[in-house]
Order: sequence, then C-alpha cells, then structure tokens
Amino acid sequence: HGRDPGIAPDRLAAARLRPDRIVIDGRMRDVHEQNERLRRAGPVVPVELPGPVRAWAVTRNDALQAALVHPDLSKELRHWADWADGRVPRDWPLSNIVTAQSMITKEGAEHRRLRALVNKAFTARHVDRLRPRIAHHAAALLDALAGHAPGPVDLRLHYAYPLPRNVICELVGMPETWHADLHKLTDSLIRVTDDADYAASRMGTLRELFAEVIDLRRREPGDDLTSALIAVRDEEGRRLTERELHDMVMTLFIAGHETTINLITNAARALLAHPGELARLRSGTLPWSAAVEETLRWDSPVAYFPMRYAVRDVDLGGVRIGAGDAVVACYAAAGRDGRRYADADRFRPSDPPADHLSFGHGEHFCLGAALARTEAEIALESLFTAFPDLAPAGPSEGLEPLATPLSNSVRTLPVMLG
Ligand code: HEM
Repeated sequence: HGRDPGIAPDRLAAARLRPDRIVIDGRMRDVHEQNERLRRAGPVVPVELPGPVRAWAVTRNDALQAALVHPDLSKELRHWADWADGRVPRDWPLSNIVTAQSMITKEGAEHRRLRALVNKAFTARHVDRLRPRIAHHAAALLDALAGHAPGPVDLRLHYAYPLPRNVICELVGMPETWHADLHKLTDSLIRVTDDADYAASRMGTLRELFAEVIDLRRREPGDDLTSALIAVRDEEGRRLTERELHDMVMTLFIAGHETTINLITNAARALLAHPGELARLRSGTLPWSAAVEETLRWDSPVAYFPMRYAVRDVDLGGVRIGAGDAVVACYAAAGRDGRRYADADRFRPSDPPADHLSFGHGEHFCLGAALARTEAEIALESLFTAFPDLAPAGPSEGLEPLATPLSNSVRTLPVMLG
C-alpha cells in the first residue's frame, strides 16, 4: 500500500483472521442456529462480514461483557487497520454506522461530552412524559387494526413498526405529515443492499430531512429533543456544532427505530407461541416488563453490532486479537449462552434475566433503554388487552428473517385478530 500498515507480515501470514470461516451477512435462515455454531467455535471467532470485511465475532456472554468494557477495544474508526489501508470498500453497507460523527464512534472525554449533552436534554422526565403519548399512539393503531378486513394482518407492519416510529418522530420534533413516508427511507439503511447508490441516495435524502427539522426547530422551538439539543450547553457553556447536532439527531432517530420495532415484534411472536406464559401476563400474575426483559435475552433485537477495534494486541477469551483488528459484538448469541443462562434456548418470562447484555454494557450502554422498555411494555399490554383472541396466522418457525446482519427479527408477523 505504499506505507507500512503497522502489522508485521508474519502475523498476517499466520492468518488468524481467515475470512473463509463463518460468514455473517444476514442471509442465514436461522440466526440462533448460526449463533450456536459461533459459540461452539469459541468465545472469539474469525468471521467475514459483507464487503467482504474480516472481523472477530465475540460470541459468548462473559467474553462479550469483557469486550464491551475493554480499555483497548475502541469504537474510534481510526484504529481500524483494514479501513485505514483501504481494504474496506467505501460503499460498504455498514459504512454509515462506523463513520457516524456521534457518541457511537467516540471514546473518552469526547464521548462523555456528547453523551452528557444529550443526557441533559433527554431526561427520565422526558421519557415519563412520553408515556401517555406512547399509550395514545398504541390505542390509535389498535383502533385502526380493529377496522381491518377479516384474515391475516401483518403485526410488524401495522403495529410494531409505526408505534416506535411515531414516538421517535414526535421526540425529535419531526413534522407529523412526514411520519408515514419515512419507512421508505429508513427501511433500506440497515439492509444489506447490493445497490450502494440506492442506499446512499436514501441516506442523502434522510440527511436533508434532518437538516430541515433542525432549521424548523430553530425557527419554531417546541417541546421536543431537537429544540432542547439546539439550546443545551455543556459545562464550559459550549453548544453542539452544526455537524454534531445533525449527527446526534440522526443517530437518535436511527438507533431508536428498528431496534424497538424488533423488540415489539419478537416479544409478540414469542408470546403468541407460548400461550401459557401469555395467560399469566394477561391475568397480572406476571408483569409485562418480565416478557420484555426475557425477549431481550432470548431473541435480542440486535444480532451483530459493528465495530470495536483493537488499539493494541488484546487477549480475549484466550484468543489473541491483533492491533488494528475489528471486533463484532454478537448480542443475540450472548443471550442464549448456556454457560451463563440455564435452559438458555427456552423462553421463560417467569424467570427473566437480571443482567442480559442486549442494551450493551459500560460507557456505551444504550441511551434509549428506558424509552425502549417503556414502549415495549405499553405496546404489549395494549395489544394483548385489545385483542383477547389474537393468534398466529401460521407456524412461528416458517417466518422469514430480516436480511441484515444487524437486526434480529422477522420480516412479517401475520396474525389473526380474532
Ligand atoms: C447504544 C441496543 C433502543 C439510542 C446501544 C447499544 C446497544 C443498543 C446494544 C450499545 C452499542 C455498543 O456498545 O456498541 C438497543 C436496543 C434497543 C435500543 C436493543 C431497543 C430495544 C434505543 C433507543 C434509542 C437508542 C429507543 C434512542 C432514542 C442509543 C444510543 C446509543 C445506543 C444513542 C449509543 C450510546 C453510546 O455510544 O454512548 N443500543 N437500543 N437506543 N442506543 Fe440503543
């Protein structure tokens, strides 16, 4: 490459990262079957991501917990040797995530500054105030469902999707007339699409829309997060720069979107397949929060999340990760690790985990966890109360997975409303 990439040739020749091993591209039929293979292969396993891009997958619960707080595994892109050396195609499907100028890709003081600013604006009070709004959106969507023609209804499309979308749009102060069309833009962002131009043009449109939202809230401040972020100042009295403000709002929008859709979809699907547990929730013997926590463990909304990079050689789970290598967190795999959870493959809301990793761990722990939990609890309780005879329209096993390595859910969830 015309310069020393910093990795000795003999180390590369040792080929600890062999991209011909296990491919994580979102095209697998069954993520849990693949994860079983990954865990069996070891706590830290070489894999290939679409691109092709090589990385280490952290597959087991204890190794993942250690990786998420490891001081030498950084989320800053500059540490990734394959990226610096041009071995990652610039139109790589996951480029948007690893290049975002937001807290997701920052560490240390810079990470704390950005996170503290949004924390000031996005308080528990904000989330609490959203409760009646979430319940309102849920009720309106359920009313619309009740008017649906007889026959199967896709619960993901008509309920699990629009609920978090409406909530996050309201939270960031997006004009209401835009809400319904947004999925045409967001839908392809997380997909592995073979058409990079198409993905880039959608990303471009989304960026323009967010610039408009920020302009709008500057002119007409409201009771929304964007207005709060425009006004908020850090300890030294500094505001966010234009670019930071833009990427912050965009990050919150994208991070708060599909993940929560998956959580609601996966929980509803699990409960429909476990009528005994559902009955206990409906009767109040079990709190809805237990179903939410158990779904997070058993069927994590995030499957594989890129990336962390080894700042120097790192020993993890007995495996040596070379400086400059990339690491992928396998959240769905960790949730079913039999070394950590007894009877890990069984869905047991009566015994929910105290400590799953599905919202992450440490400094980067999910900023939206309280919001996501609140949304999912309200969504499930409202849904199963409104439709006492709700039933799956077909076998749960036959449902098609989302074609993305990031997200873990099904494309559609057909139900009979009863
Ligand atoms: C971070 C999962 C909902 C905003 C994370 C991380 C995970 C996660 C695993 C850690 C990533 C890492 O360490 O590399 C989820 C799941 C959700 C959800 C499973 C829903 C079920 C939300 C919502 C929002 C949000 C609703 C915002 C409104 C964020 C942000 C970060 C983050 C901003 C980055 C935090 C940081 O880097 O300091 N999320 N999330 N998430 N999440 Fe969530």
